[in-house]
Amino acid sequence: MRWSPHGLLRCWLSLVTLAVCVSVARSVAAEPEPSSATGNAVDFNRDVRPLLAKHCFSCHGAERQESDFRLDRRDDALRGGANGVAILPGKAQESPLTDRIAGADPDLRMPPKGDLLPPEAVAVIRTWIDQGANWSADSETAATVKVDHWSLKPLVRPAVPRATASTIVQNPIDAFVAATLGEHGLKPSVEADRRTLIRRVAVDLTGLPPTPEELAKFLADTSPDAYELLVDRLLASPRYGERWARHWMDVAHFSETHGNDQDRPRPNAWPYRDYLVHSFNADKPYARFVGEQVAGDVLYPDDPQATVALGFLAAGICKKGAFCRHAWLRWHAVACVCGGLAEIGLAKSG
Ligand code: HEC
Repeated sequence: MRWSPHGLLRCWLSLVTLAVCVSVARSVAAEPEPSSATGNAVDFNRDVRPLLAKHCFSCHGAERQESDFRLDRRDDALRGGANGVAILPGKAQESPLTDRIAGADPDLRMPPKGDLLPPEAVAVIRTWIDQGANWSADSETAATVKVDHWSLKPLVRPAVPRATASTIVQNPIDAFVAATLGEHGLKPSVEADRRTLIRRVAVDLTGLPPTPEELAKFLADTSPDAYELLVDRLLASPRYGERWARHWMDVAHFSETHGNDQDRPRPNAWPYRDYLVHSFNADKPYARFVGEQVAGDVLYPDDPQATVALGFLAAGICKKGAFCRHAWLRWHAVACVCGGLAEIGLAKSG
């Protein structure tokens, strides 16, 4: 406990608070409240965790840990903060946390501002500590794994659905589409005519409609793999990288000016843009592509293009037009990459 000039007063107030708590605890215990924690064993999940979540986690939870004290995970909570252990299981009276939530010392009270915990809540937490500060295992899981996101699940290769007679299935993807259409009682559309097909695929892959010559060539090509050859040709076009790098430029928030009200030009932004176009055209493996942009200077020191790739870290909007060198930027960058994974994880290099 920290020395305070008001020590005596605090002790006295603590005693008064304690007396109030005990009497409140008694009166609560006297009533037949089914969800009440006092009297019987306190249930951490039911009685304690909601109080901590409501009053403490904003400063001692997953996002912030004031004074290095984290209260949403058992090990961290019992380890204590910068000033040492705060919870002594079995000993509420001696636990610094008890004094803090009782709020007798305005310098030490928790939460530091606003309303203190109601006396019933303080009593519940005291009882919980006295009963050994037990922490149920499932709440630990609830604190750490909050999301049930597809990207966190292991990869599995699903069985390819068997095609029904009424569908035109040429590859496994068609089979999945056909199966879902069947589930909804829908029939596949007829295949588009060749003019429509070439226009669609050209716009998808290069962002441009086919030229009259390309159109004529495709219409005249009656070989069974004419469509596949067309796709290969479009993927080999330099326009492919220009089209698909744009999606990554969105992820990186690429811009050729600084943004905001100090929207100064960035005359040197283009090498990073060209790096992206080239990476897509070269069908660079995704892991390398991401690695170069987050730490290319360290990972590939001999490749000047890997340093150009670091443009990713500065491509976005910048406050006051300054070059952003803050440490958080890398974190932000990594978050962007994760978002990017989800957004264009189906890029050519897969
Ligand atoms: C608005 C932010 C805020 C809230 C909410 C808050 N705290 Fe704190 N807490 C702080 C700050 C700031 C410190 C460091 C200053 C100090 O020691 O008084 C601190 C320190 C502590 C410490 C000492 C940790 C150490 O070792 O230095 C304990 C124990 C603590 N808080 C418990 C709680 C509990 C229990 C609650 C909920 C009832 C709570 N706090 C709610 C901001 C907060």
